[in-house]
Amino acid sequence: MRIIYILLIPALMLLMVSSGCREDEASPFYEPSPALPVHFPSLPVPNAKPLTKARVKLGKKLFFDPILSRDSSISCASCHLPQKAFADPRQFSLGVDGQMGKRNAPALFNLAYGLSFFRDGATPTLERQVLFPIEDPSEMHNTLPVVIERLRSHPTYPGLFQQAFGTQPTVDGLTDAIAAFERTLLSYQSPYDRFLAGDSSSLDAAQQRGMQLFFGEKAECFHCHGGFNFTDEMFHNNGLYEQYADPGRWRITGKASDMGKFKTPSLRNIAYTAPYMHDGSLSSLEEVVEHYSSGGKAHPNKSVLIRRFILSEQEKQDLIAFLHALSDETFIHNPAFRPE
Ligand code: HEC
Ligand code: HEC
Repeated sequence: MRIIYILLIPALMLLMVSSGCREDEASPFYEPSPALPVHFPSLPVPNAKPLTKARVKLGKKLFFDPILSRDSSISCASCHLPQKAFADPRQFSLGVDGQMGKRNAPALFNLAYGLSFFRDGATPTLERQVLFPIEDPSEMHNTLPVVIERLRSHPTYPGLFQQAFGTQPTVDGLTDAIAAFERTLLSYQSPYDRFLAGDSSSLDAAQQRGMQLFFGEKAECFHCHGGFNFTDEMFHNNGLYEQYADPGRWRITGKASDMGKFKTPSLRNIAYTAPYMHDGSLSSLEEVVEHYSSGGKAHPNKSVLIRRFILSEQEKQDLIAFLHALSDETFIHNPAFRPE
């Protein structure tokens, strides 16, 4: 046994040295850089879905490539714009043939920590989520056999799938690669994060007052938008309507108590992602604060935390100033999240 090890170790070392110039082999796994701050949990990555550089690279190419849509006109990034924290500034996104969707496209970041995806939590994994936009008639309106056929007859994709998965293009490879890229979309460098790391000058006086309001028992925001990612990952009715055109979580569970409940969105990068709410019905953070302080509309499922409270003009501005402190400019401008 021992002898085998003794022989193996120099052989392995030789292998590592000889491939040293090829980045993918020398450090095959994606690492957040700079490292995640201590107030972030370590990055959850499923064992069977390692974040290799080859997978992330392939996933990024696919994310920005209109090849996935039926008429090759739109990519994931047509509705998830990198400079908008991967949200869509339009109230409703347009799919192929100008088809209009029914929900506002959410921002995409820190998805590796997500417990469910879509505003009603329709899918439990990032991998499964990928299939929906590809097949949705109001989005890419394509079929998987067509997509896989296109990728297999493409000049570069077969090689990239080979590097990433050791196979030709497959549906599993496609969804694993895009999910891998999505897990690298990490946002953790806002002024608020620098504040938590000890730099008290990164929030000005208004933002610090706004932070007290946000985490206080008058505005109650933190009960739902709490934790390192400003979301409890749960579903709530926040009193937008008396009658909901979009039933939200009810669509998944069929329970009357879930009518009008939607997943709590993270508030990181919120200044970049207007319009707001599942239907993009509120166009500014001022309108959002007005909504909450008014106590919202009467609905049997409205959370008890949504009730009228009075804020002075100054307090409203402070609260909004704090929300701006959650903007992560490095995330918005990160070249790693732009097409090559
Ligand atoms: C035509 C516009 C459009 C396209 C194209 C599109 N999306 Fe989306 N995306 C949306 C909308 C709208 C939602 C919200 C739908 C819902 O909640 O029911 C969404 C939701 C998501 C979510 C869930 C986020 C969360 O926080 O729950 C992910 C992840 C996502 N899209 C990734 C992708 C990927 C990957 C692609 C490409 C394969 C893609 N999208 C293509 C519009 C689009
Ligand atoms: C009872 C839980 C709850 C409380 C308390 C709460 N929110 Fe929300 N918030 C939600 C849910 C759920 C949504 C998504 C609603 C939808 O999609 O229609 C949301 C959406 C938002 C949005 C829009 C996010 C987006 O991406 O569209 C903002 C901004 C926001 N809340 C800010 C606040 C602020 C500020 C407070 C405190 C004044 C607050 N929230 C209190 C649950 C809550």
